[in-house]
Amino acid sequence: MKLDGVPSRTIWLEPDGWSVGIIDQTLLPHKLVRLSLKTVEDAARAIKTMQVRGAPLIGVTAAYGVALAMRVDTSDASLARSVAFLGEQRPTAINLRWALEDIRSTLLPLAPAVRAAAAYARAAELANDDVETCRRIGVNGLKLIEEISKKKSGRPVNVLTHCNAGWLACVDWGTATSPIYHAHDAGIPVHVWVDETRPRNQGAALTAFELLQHGVPHSLIADNAGGHFMQTGEVDLVIVGTDRVTANGDVANKIGTYLKALAAHDMQVPFYVALPYSTIDWRTESGREIPIEERSEDEVLRVHGKLPDGEVSSVLIAAEGTHARNPAFDVTPSRLVTGFITERGLCAASREGLLSLYPEKTNAAA
Ligand code: MRU
Repeated sequence: MKLDGVPSRTIWLEPDGWSVGIIDQTLLPHKLVRLSLKTVEDAARAIKTMQVRGAPLIGVTAAYGVALAMRVDTSDASLARSVAFLGEQRPTAINLRWALEDIRSTLLPLAPAVRAAAAYARAAELANDDVETCRRIGVNGLKLIEEISKKKSGRPVNVLTHCNAGWLACVDWGTATSPIYHAHDAGIPVHVWVDETRPRNQGAALTAFELLQHGVPHSLIADNAGGHFMQTGEVDLVIVGTDRVTANGDVANKIGTYLKALAAHDMQVPFYVALPYSTIDWRTESGREIPIEERSEDEVLRVHGKLPDGEVSSVLIAAEGTHARNPAFDVTPSRLVTGFITERGLCAASREGLLSLYPEKTNAAA
């Protein structure tokens, strides 16, 4: 997608051929700062501190992190160490484990002398694969928006989304936003309700930013407003991303997703989850088993923003001494999900639905 009018990706190989470029997402939307990751520790820190975030992007970053480790030491021990180290940075998104397992199994049979080059090649393949996967999610999800647009005789289709499952969360296109970008680019009028997504405000800081950059009409709303707009008939469709879908179709996503699904269910608003195959955890039976990341209470107690003098800072919003809890994700049971939008097509949010698109996983999900 475009950044300041220039087609961009969220992660790239720098001109030196080995360091890895990223956008520091903790500074958006007020500052656009690009960083170079030069060590496996840099990659781990970027994932942990959410300079990169979003399930697909942390997977690709981790793959490049292994490549950075291989530059220094290509031994079996170094491979095992870097995979374990990167994997422990964030627990909920399965894409992290998926990408690390992929790169580990690619490198392990190879002679140490060729591992560094092979790691860079595989990380680049994972990045390119993510772009194509997200593009196909968009093509498949576009059909839903087209149908609604026809029924509305061309009036804008109102899509509500939560958190940032946009191109900033992936390598390009995004998952939840890809059908929206495809619809917009095809000339279908769309308008996006962007949940601010407390506590880290990924909706306000990232989704609104990227929609603005691409020229897609949108309105930022307080997290608590979505249910109201569903009641007033101003939401035609909800599309969110996910960090992990279990074999039975339960969905882990940014905290607050479950409340939106409950409201959508009550108001019979279609609630879709967009995901790439790398987000399906075939080995985990149900959402109850998903580890939920708990982050610092500071994220709840403080908000980041731009001060009148232009400085970006954080301010305390509760009395000194107040304590907070900060679960970063919640689980939406499959019964509240209308369907999945994947690179292979649409399906029901159930084991049977998933297996209809991924029949080769029949034994994995048993
Ligand atoms: O904590 P974050 O910002 O990494 O959470 C991101 C989300 O919850 C996204 O919705 C999810 O990763 C899907 S990204 C395509």
